[in-house]
Amino acid sequence: MYGNILSYEQNDNQITIYFEKQKVILQIIREDIVRVLVPYWMEDYQSAAIEEDKSVPCTYTVEEYENMITVKTGKLTIKLEDDGYMDVYDGSGKLLMSDYRGIRTLGGEVNDEANALLAAEGHVMENMAYNYPVQTVKALDTTDCFYGLGDKTGFINKRGYEYENWNSDLPQAHTESFPALYKSIPFLICKKKNAVFGLFFDNSFRSIFNLGKESEDYFFYGAEGGNLDCYIIGGNTMVEVVSGYTYLTGTTPLPQRWTLGLQQSRWGYESASDLLEVARGYRNHRIPCDAIHLDIDYMQGFRVFTWNEKQYGPIERLTGDLKSLGFKPVCIIDPGTKYEKEYFMYEEGVLGDYFVKDAEGKLYVNAVWPGDANFPDFGRSEVREWWASHHEGLLSNGIMGIWNDMNEPASFHGELPEDVQMHFEERQTTHEEMHNLYGHFMAKATYEGIKEISGRRPFVITRACYAGTQKYSTVWTGDNQSLWSHLQMMIPQLCNLGLSGFAFCGADVGGFGADCTKELMCRWIEAACFSPLFRNHSARGTKRQEPWQFGEECVDITRKYVELRYRFLPYIYDLFYQGTKTGLPVMRPLVLHYEDDPEVQNMNGEFLVGENILVAPVVVEGENKKIVYLPEGVWYDYWTGECFQGRQYIMKDAPLETLPIYIKAGSIIPTYDPVQYIGQRTYTTLRLLTTPGVASWNHYLDNGKDFRYKDGKYNLYHFEKDMAGNITTTMLHENFPGYLSIMVDPLLAK
Ligand code: GLC
Repeated sequence: MYGNILSYEQNDNQITIYFEKQKVILQIIREDIVRVLVPYWMEDYQSAAIEEDKSVPCTYTVEEYENMITVKTGKLTIKLEDDGYMDVYDGSGKLLMSDYRGIRTLGGEVNDEANALLAAEGHVMENMAYNYPVQTVKALDTTDCFYGLGDKTGFINKRGYEYENWNSDLPQAHTESFPALYKSIPFLICKKKNAVFGLFFDNSFRSIFNLGKESEDYFFYGAEGGNLDCYIIGGNTMVEVVSGYTYLTGTTPLPQRWTLGLQQSRWGYESASDLLEVARGYRNHRIPCDAIHLDIDYMQGFRVFTWNEKQYGPIERLTGDLKSLGFKPVCIIDPGTKYEKEYFMYEEGVLGDYFVKDAEGKLYVNAVWPGDANFPDFGRSEVREWWASHHEGLLSNGIMGIWNDMNEPASFHGELPEDVQMHFEERQTTHEEMHNLYGHFMAKATYEGIKEISGRRPFVITRACYAGTQKYSTVWTGDNQSLWSHLQMMIPQLCNLGLSGFAFCGADVGGFGADCTKELMCRWIEAACFSPLFRNHSARGTKRQEPWQFGEECVDITRKYVELRYRFLPYIYDLFYQGTKTGLPVMRPLVLHYEDDPEVQNMNGEFLVGENILVAPVVVEGENKKIVYLPEGVWYDYWTGECFQGRQYIMKDAPLETLPIYIKAGSIIPTYDPVQYIGQRTYTTLRLLTTPGVASWNHYLDNGKDFRYKDGKYNLYHFEKDMAGNITTTMLHENFPGYLSIMVDPLLAK
């Protein structure tokens, strides 16, 4: 490998170690975060995910031994040996991670002959016997579990699988054997017996994580190019590791309050009257709803930044009508810009030299919805500014949010070749490096455009992204289907997205492709009513998915759970507020807070909302009971008040109208009386739902719209509850009109 250690140099927070054949740079970011950079490619790589210098001064020591250098902060010890082998220990000397000293077994049974036979029958074989040019192999223990990695399919614990980071638009039904989906978040949480740490590989080239698929002895990361650029994130708990990762890549900013309401979407609302009928449907059925989405149908021939006035009438008339019903319209914008002379986006793009080029320097063309299209070179700030400025027409006419799609980038005539010319700011590079960053930079452009034009907290939804995109956009999990297995998969997928920094995420409720049934729709509404992004969306040609399409029972159940969502809104908003500081998500796997409980390390069927609410939805057709695991502590059934000791499984009756919900003892949960839409009336009363036990909670209140909170225009309440149930309120910050009354609603415990 790298040969023997020759010498080292120390410069501020950077230690450069010279091996005979390679240089390795350690950067101390914080006591608990160390970057290990093996600059195979570029030493001064500017990260897309980490935008500022995050290092803070801290003391550390370097010790030199015969074949080894040890770098020690208060919380991490890195030992580098000859040949580049690295071991990492925590502050107490416990081994966290060890380079595997053996040789990869390289999937011995797979050879050319076997591959040819498998290919002949139509199987797609990954070439396992492949050593990546950028690769690191770590020892694996039998009890190690893995989490994070963004939107990957499958189960919460990624142990045993191989995943690929290559943003992919795959229309077939997603299953747990899919290596990749739309997002690349190369952040892995490694949970060991009694220890935990995170690894963030900041590299946007195609890469893989093999997490015990190839061998039970090791796991490995490999990339097709770039540096081996790894941030080791220590911490006493998984919570600290997630916080450390979002310290680096940024936390999800405070959203506008209405974006936490229900949103309705469908590809195929073909006219203003279609959209208004849906909006009125919600009001007539008294189901709260805040947003309605305009899919590609609203454009003229799928040309971005155009409006089909024939079908949709004047834009301001439609947005005005929707507004009077309390609906906020959100429009889709795709990157593929129709390749057509005289279309203003084409003309401007060519004139400004904003589109990507092929290897010969000719305008690159591939097909998407509008047919032949060009692709903006979003890595350059001037291209982002150009793109951002075009949102003016939509935003100044009442459009309240932008939905970015197809930005893997998706293309109908095969994938963009790897040598398509793109830029990372001024630096010229290729699609090979920029593919996984394309959605990130598009979302950033959209965020900046909305912020500049409207002054509001931008509401952007993106399908493709990279690590750090959470600063600019919420995400959804793309084209799922109306399948029970996809309802099941939503839980681990959203939980892992949350652990990967994306506090604001959601899946298409009811399923995008295929036909939904009444039972699936009801269960999906229940399972998703606490998911951060709560949007019902479906594809053209499938059964329509507005709740009333499935009869009265579905309408009643939907109303019950959407009202519940609106009731718990201040709690969810508080979690977002906390998340801006801690990086913790809203929707959390149980393992985040009970990491040493082996029962929850593979728990896919329930989740926490913050720390105080446990949700255990029924996600199997025909089932009307749910086996619920309650972790350590005391829990109360939200519906009956029944009290349970934790660390046990209980059986809960869950007929179609019942979502099992448990509230932790010692909770104060702020709630509001439900409204039909956010902004319908000012919230003058706050209700505190409490469970027995001593409790405290910080509650945050601001205008829920713009950035005035940054100038201190908000209230921060601190509630304390004693054993007798008395609540005292202290104002930690007071600079916003407060509530007229704060009431206490104790959960009637049995
Ligand atoms: C993609 C999106 C989907 C959208 C459709 C049409 O498939 O994932 O949500 O409805 O394109 O724009």
